[in-house]
Amino acid sequence: MYLPNSHHTTPDYYQHLLNITDSKNPALEPYQFSLKSLTQPGGASFLVMRNLPIDRPLPEPPQDGKRPTSKNTWISEATLFSIQRTIGLQPLSYIQEKGGVLVHEVAPVPGLDKSLSNSGIVALGFHTDDSILKPEFRPEFLTLLGLINEHHTPTFIAPIDWAFAELSSRHQQELMKPQYRVESPDSFKIFGGKVLRSELRSLVTRNPSGDLEIAGNLYAVTTREPQAQVALDSLRTVLPEIAESVILEPGCAVIFSNSRVLHGRAAITGGKRWLQRCFSRKNLDALRKATGNYKTHSFDIQQLILA
Ligand SMILES: [Fe+2]
Repeated sequence: MYLPNSHHTTPDYYQHLLNITDSKNPALEPYQFSLKSLTQPGGASFLVMRNLPIDRPLPEPPQDGKRPTSKNTWISEATLFSIQRTIGLQPLSYIQEKGGVLVHEVAPVPGLDKSLSNSGIVALGFHTDDSILKPEFRPEFLTLLGLINEHHTPTFIAPIDWAFAELSSRHQQELMKPQYRVESPDSFKIFGGKVLRSELRSLVTRNPSGDLEIAGNLYAVTTREPQAQVALDSLRTVLPEIAESVILEPGCAVIFSNSRVLHGRAAITGGKRWLQRCFSRKNLDALRKATGNYKTHSFDIQQLILA
């Protein structure tokens, strides 16, 4: 999509692009059926797509987590939005994360190298995004689109049902008891930089459709119960063994359920790397009701935490 650029990098402009993006992207034609199955109970929990349209040439990756003003076209953003449109998903963002824009730039930010977030370069352990929020406020789906990945750094995708199948029933039962706490992630800037810890929760649950779900950063989950810790450790051990390794080369995208799949990334060992990310949900009703925001797709995370 060739749109007049460039100072248009405000949240409003992404909203404008979303409004004019339709679902008829020929590059998505081969994936129509598989994409729609993602929202069906018992359907696939993730899908990898290749040869999708991105901007060429691209400018240098951003170093500040913001869309470079020298990216003169919006092709990759339109690709991300047309994936959402194909399934009927609504993009969303949080005001306190990446300035509330609907497409996040995922690239190392110098100075945040060690941050356990999309701005860092150290290995990012298995997690789901925004698990501190109530389920109805979290992104249901994440889409990552590769723009530049010089060192072929893999993204790891680990469906919880694959992992669970490898665990003893004793460990499965422990993970389903309300005896864990999760923490708010490094990428949030809320309440002046506070780390929030959740109420006691089950780490793994079964949804009404019978699918297993999980929410948490496994490197920031805590428990006081020794048996619960043992079960958590065995889950951590199993995840790298069952995980699918997806190299997000330019034009390759992965969409996955943020409740049925844990994701992570290997350390970035050098070379340029730049992905774009989009959060989405089937509907935004709960977020709108909780915040009183009926206009934009960008929500105040502090309001959501207090809701
Ligand atoms: Fe993440």
